[in-house]
Amino acid sequence: MGAPRIIVAFDFPRAEQALTLAARLEPGSCRVKVGKELFTAAGPQVVEKLMGKGFDVFLDLKFHDIPSTVANACKAAADLGVWMMNVHALGGRRMLSAAREAVPAGTTKLIAVTLLTSMERSDLNEVGLNGDPQDVVERLVLLVRDCELDGVVSSALEAPRIRQLIGGSFCVVTPGIRPADASVDEQKRITTPRQAIENGADYLVIGRPITQAPDPALMLHRLNDEIEGRIRF
Ligand code: C5P
Repeated sequence: MGAPRIIVAFDFPRAEQALTLAARLEPGSCRVKVGKELFTAAGPQVVEKLMGKGFDVFLDLKFHDIPSTVANACKAAADLGVWMMNVHALGGRRMLSAAREAVPAGTTKLIAVTLLTSMERSDLNEVGLNGDPQDVVERLVLLVRDCELDGVVSSALEAPRIRQLIGGSFCVVTPGIRPADASVDEQKRITTPRQAIENGADYLVIGRPITQAPDPALMLHRLNDEIEGRIRF
């Protein structure tokens, strides 16, 4: 297979669980996302251990703070040598530009979250983001591109429009992925893996459908086959 397009979300409370799962997966078949839970519990050491096993790590801490704080945090993350990291687009232009300055293009990939895939229109309206989620995402995508980040995290439902707006060189990472027969959990704006690729996603973040599967390696294998068009669920 080509470079792995599935990023497995290692959402675990302890390093041991992450390392046990890592031992069952191949770095040639997936990349790994370390998010707030695992990083808060296990710190940079677990990131280093996963990288030491050959995995590309996406450090998903969605930084959102004043520009200088975010810039310093981004630099610390990039110094760890992670493959990809992110900030929150709602932090605004000055924060995004400060992050870009701290992580020069061509090193760690720096992307921004637009809207969380767990949020639907009523959630957005409640926090004052009125209008269609699609319009909010489009505004944020253009802002992220303007600040010269490498891409966005976004629902796969928005990926076709993002491709229309920005074209091919911008990286689109999509969580909220569920195989047709899987539990939806709290995700709202979801697609199947195949749909996400057809919609223009570069990388798919998939957590529980793989991490909670009886055989995570087998599930990963099925999902890789599905996105490469060899089977359909
Ligand atoms: O288990 P599941 O496949 O729902 O995991 C999705 C992962 O993607 C979680 O780690 C979550 O934090 C992350 N994520 C998301 N929506 C975003 C950004 C990140 O679900 N917009």
